[in-house]
Amino acid sequence: MPEVAVPSTPHIVLKDVVKAFGNTRVLDRLSLSIPLGQKVALIGPSGSGKSTVLRLIKGLERYQAGSIEVAGEPVPARRGGWRWPGSPRPAFVHRVGMVFQQFNLFPHLTVLENITEAPLRVLRLTAEEARARALSYLDQVGLVGKANAYPGQLSGGQQQRVAIARALAMHPQVLLFDEVTSALDPELVGEVLAVIRAIADEQRTTMLLVTHEMTFARDVADRVLFMEGGKIIADGTPEQILVAPTNTRTQRFLRAVSVR
Ligand SMILES: Nc1ncnc2c1ncn2[C@@H]1O[C@H](COP(=O)(O)OP(=O)(O)O)[C@@H](O)[C@H]1O
Ligand SMILES: [Mg+2]
Repeated sequence: MPEVAVPSTPHIVLKDVVKAFGNTRVLDRLSLSIPLGQKVALIGPSGSGKSTVLRLIKGLERYQAGSIEVAGEPVPARRGGWRWPGSPRPAFVHRVGMVFQQFNLFPHLTVLENITEAPLRVLRLTAEEARARALSYLDQVGLVGKANAYPGQLSGGQQQRVAIARALAMHPQVLLFDEVTSALDPELVGEVLAVIRAIADEQRTTMLLVTHEMTFARDVADRVLFMEGGKIIADGTPEQILVAPTNTRTQRFLRAVSVR
């Protein structure tokens, strides 16, 4: 057995979180603690609550009970008045960066403008600072040459790499990836996974990745969580969960995904 590292400061903490849509409890007293800098892969069947967990951490969903903290600050159960024009955005919104399956780039803005938009508006960087920062992250994802292109002129893989650069440009403390390769043609998946691998290696950022790419999860993650029916039913190293799973439901799931 490899020696388990002493957990450092918890960075994301969910305690007994209850999330319901109408009368349906999607998460029923879910608890989870992720230490600073840990790279966590979240796997499980469709509908098990993976996206809901990410959306809660990002502050995109209200919840009914329990508590969520990111970097020691609460993510409120209810969105307050901050969505109203003129009210300041709470810090947790930009401490957490999220990349979605659908890239959600602004089609009418260039690649560069897509990346500088939030640093200018939210972080209030100067135009020069925002531009320099955007170009450095575009370089990291291998797309400096596309700075002045529009999203519609890029492949899906390139658009997703822009979306990753856009998330990084906010200097988030936590990065969430929700099935970011699921909408891509198979030949474009590799380039996006390579970019995420490099980020995971270089950045101290805490990362939580929902993925169906099991080889990728095994390479990148320090820890794998298997979710089913709104519960975390297996939690361990990639070796424990993906290579030699003891849980029969995890075994069944892995057999199903590896067939595809
Ligand atoms: N906005 C919503 N309204 C109603 N039900 C939802 C909503 N979002 C998710 N759900 C339900 O919550 C459960 C978990 O969904 P989700 O977190 O998207 O699962 P996963 O990402 O693991 O596929 C599913 O049963 C889904 O139908
Ligand atoms: Mg999902």
